[in-house]
Amino acid sequence: AGIRAALGDAYADLTIRVYDALDSTNQEAQRLLAAGADCPLLLLSEEQTAGRGRRGRAFYSPAGEGLYMTLALQPPAALSQATLLTAAAAVAVAQAVEALTALACQIKWVNDVYLDGKKLCGILTEASGSFEADALSSVCAGIGVNVRTRDFPEELAGRACSLWPRAVSRNRLAAEIAVRLLNFAADLGARDFLEEYRRRSLVLGRTVAFMRGGEERRALAVGIGRDGQLLVRRADGSEEALNAGEVRILPAGRNDHSTFW
Ligand code: BTN
Repeated sequence: AGIRAALGDAYADLTIRVYDALDSTNQEAQRLLAAGADCPLLLLSEEQTAGRGRRGRAFYSPAGEGLYMTLALQPPAALSQATLLTAAAAVAVAQAVEALTALACQIKWVNDVYLDGKKLCGILTEASGSFEADALSSVCAGIGVNVRTRDFPEELAGRACSLWPRAVSRNRLAAEIAVRLLNFAADLGARDFLEEYRRRSLVLGRTVAFMRGGEERRALAVGIGRDGQLLVRRADGSEEALNAGEVRILPAGRNDHSTFW
């Protein structure tokens, strides 16, 4: 009811389900969709017992401390546009946090939202469908924001942050994120959020390290492409577009990428 009230008249057709505990809101969304549930569908859980991060990692999801939500949407017409949804989700989170706290958020490619150099939010967008048909059956944007966490486990301490000590209503935060993401998704091809995604980027202008063919490469991040790819320039001047994966930002001052290549 709190989320519905915060949404106001927007998206009255949005089905909202809130759980005390789930393995993963993305997992539950996929189960419901497989059983025939309609989109749009918003799932939230107080805690996740098997919260999923990217690349098979776990996402720290203690009870009552975060916003763990999945928005399941009708897929974009073309498979290639699905990657844009990830960028749209990151901008939606950054805008929503700023609307409620006035804190300035940045985005680390692909879709981590940062506050003062520490990770505030992770996003895992999962899709199912057929590559051959260039069509998806559903897209689930899973968003995890650290809201009230004061003490992170040792492996996250120093790298993760939360909105604490600011008192932020998770109902309002969920509604602010959902309405923005639904708006962006309604016309993903317009790419209304992409310029802002670029402006908020933590990686542009920095030397980044990434894996290619089993070896680490280093290059200068020079742009964000039309579909959200990271454009990097190597020391020999050639450019390449990274579609997925992760980059590590090298410490400032070591940004003369020619010395690394
Ligand atoms: C990452 O940082 O690697 C992505 C983390 C995504 C976490 C969210 S929390 C809600 C949704 N359900 C999950 O199991 N994962 C996503």
